[in-house]
Amino acid sequence: MTKRIGFFIGSLRKNSYNRKVAEKLAHFLPADFEAVFVELGDLPLYNEDLDVAGKEPVAWQRFRNEVNTLDGVVFVTPEYNRSVPAVLKNALDVGSRPYGQSVWDGKPGLVVSVSPGAIGGFGANHHLRQSLVFLNIPTLQQPEAYIGNISQSIDEDGEIIEKTQAFLKLIVDKYIVFFEANQL
Ligand SMILES: Cc1cc2nc3c(=O)[nH]c(=O)nc-3n(C[C@H](O)[C@H](O)[C@H](O)COP(=O)(O)O)c2cc1C
Repeated sequence: MTKRIGFFIGSLRKNSYNRKVAEKLAHFLPADFEAVFVELGDLPLYNEDLDVAGKEPVAWQRFRNEVNTLDGVVFVTPEYNRSVPAVLKNALDVGSRPYGQSVWDGKPGLVVSVSPGAIGGFGANHHLRQSLVFLNIPTLQQPEAYIGNISQSIDEDGEIIEKTQAFLKLIVDKYIVFFEANQL
């Protein structure tokens, strides 16, 4: 059966480097895996007062239903002020509730951070991992994926250069092995 891997991108920017990297990661999935790009930009900020059964914001319902159909979760994120962009943290929070009904529980995860800066979004990568521990998302440890100086990894045609592509393929290959060993 085809396995569904959700991609969660921590940037809403049209020309996002993170989206470009996420699309390449998706491209490297084996044939019996399907990439599902999950929309985060329409999720109202999490507010417990709005989380009333049957009356939740429609976008929250759509998001929770969609994540429930996934077998694995891949987070590709920039670093904002040395941490996780609010759009991605909000999505984690929306999916984590109602209490006891988290849509994340047990789904094998991958974290990739991407930045034009030299340290490749290390801070965001590790702050994100802190939440994933609590959400019980078992996450690939090695190789760690801090994609720094990303603008130098894009050629004049807008394509990711071969060396970086090879690293992205390695990450996906390792994630798939990890996924198979940890899937629900
Ligand atoms: C609010 C804000 C905070 C940022 N903070 C960081 C940071 O802490 N570390 C970093 O490497 N880049 C930081 N950046 C720069 C982003 O890495 C850069 O804008 C990047 O292109 C965002 O990813 P995207 O291309 O996928 O949108 C920040 C950008 C914004 C808008």
